This record gives sequence, C-alpha cells and structure tokens, in this order.
Amino acid sequence: MRIVLLGAPGSGKGTQAALLKTRLNVPHISTGEILRAAVAAGTPLGRQAKAVMAAGALVSDEIVLGMLEERFSQPDVLGGFILDGYPRNLAQANALEALLGRLGQPIDRAVQLDVAESTLLQRLAGRAKAEGRADDNPDSVAHRLHVYTEQTAPVIDFYEKHGALVRVPGEGSMEEILERIIAALD
Ligand code: AP5
Repeated sequence: MRIVLLGAPGSGKGTQAALLKTRLNVPHISTGEILRAAVAAGTPLGRQAKAVMAAGALVSDEIVLGMLEERFSQPDVLGGFILDGYPRNLAQANALEALLGRLGQPIDRAVQLDVAESTLLQRLAGRAKAEGRADDNPDSVAHRLHVYTEQTAPVIDFYEKHGALVRVPGEGSMEEILERIIAALD
C-alpha cells in the first residue's frame, strides 16, 4: 500500500508512520527526517536547509524533490511506502504525482490526521522540553502552523478530488489512532 500522511505540525504523522511501518511492513519516508539527518551531518544540503528549517519555513521545492527522487530510486519502495512530510504544497503534490506516475506507483490513500490547534501546541511544547528540536520554539511553531494553513491545507483538496483522501481523528492514544487509520485504509 502506498500512503501519504497529511496533517499539521504535531498532528502525529511521524508517530503514526513509525507504527504503520511495523504493521504494514513498508518503508517510512520522512522528508523532515532526511533533512534533519543532513543538517546533523553538516552536508552541503544540510547547511543550506538549517536556517530555513529552524525558522519553520519550507525548504525549496527543487531541493526536496531532488532528495525524494533519490529515495524513490531505491528498490524497497516498490512494495509500498508511507510518505510523511511530502507533499507540502500543490507544486509538490503535482511533482509527486508525476514522479510516482513514471514509476507506476500511484498513491492509494492520503490520510489526514485531524487534531485541534490547542493539542498541537501542547504536543510541540512537550517535545520542545523533552528533545529541544530547533523548530519547536514558539515563533517557529507559529510560522509552521501558518505555512501549513496557507500552503499545505490545499493539498487535502487535491487528494479529495483524486478520491484518495481519508480523514482520521488524530486525538486519543497513539494505539487508538493507529487502529482508526488501519480501519480507514480498508
Ligand atoms: P517535518 O519533520 O515534516 O515536521 P512537521 O510537519 O512540522 O511535523 P512534526 O514532526 O512536528 O509533527 P508530526 O505531525 O510528525 O507529529 P509527531 O509524530 O512528530 O518537517 C520539519 C521541517 O522540515 C519543515 O518545517 C520544513 O522546514 C522541512 N521540510 C520537511 N518536509 C518538507 C517538504 N516536503 N518541503 C519543504 N520543506 C520540508 O508528534 C509530535 C509530538 O506529539 C511528539 O512529541 C509525539 O510524541 C507527540 N504525540 C504524537 N501523537 C501523540 C498522541 N496520540 N498523544 C500524545 N502525544 C502524541
């Protein structure tokens, strides 16, 4: 199964992708994780992306598409995948459709995790204390939420028009949400 996970910052995309990976036995591809690894390793890509990410803005479409094309050239994606953090705007949604069309691997389901803003803020503040992720400070969180509303929310309509969208309430225990997603995929 080929799945895109959609949802605001803190909605649980990464958490649920990790659980789904084990359940469905397909790779989890997170553009945020790939970028954070590049920043940590100090690669040229990471040096370019570091300040943009810390501010909560989007890294350029061209850079992220290049990264994704490289990841999708690996054979493990042919058995399905969970994509988390991409697409983030309509240009990326169209680029993904073209890339997966060339590979003959179209998206089966786009799962939107629906979470109240108060819960998002609470979760991200909790992670800021526990892990100190560079973009979990209040200013960057506010900007990430703004970017989500302005640029990423239209991607939900894109998948709805394609008949691939399922909406899942994203509050409750991690296991409860996982079971809702599994039920929605059937
Ligand atoms: P990315 O890593 O994709 O971050 P994000 O979308 O802001 O999402 P988060 O990781 O904050 O949240 P999540 O929805 O994955 O929730 P999580 O499971 O972690 O992107 C980071 C940056 O990289 C972007 O801002 C941008 O700069 C760049 N980037 C990435 N992709 C890009 C792209 N395609 N184009 C351009 N730039 C791109 O959970 C959050 C917290 O809540 C955790 O602490 C978790 O333990 C907790 N939690 C989760 N579920 C529950 C639950 N049910 N109950 C209680 N706590 C929970």
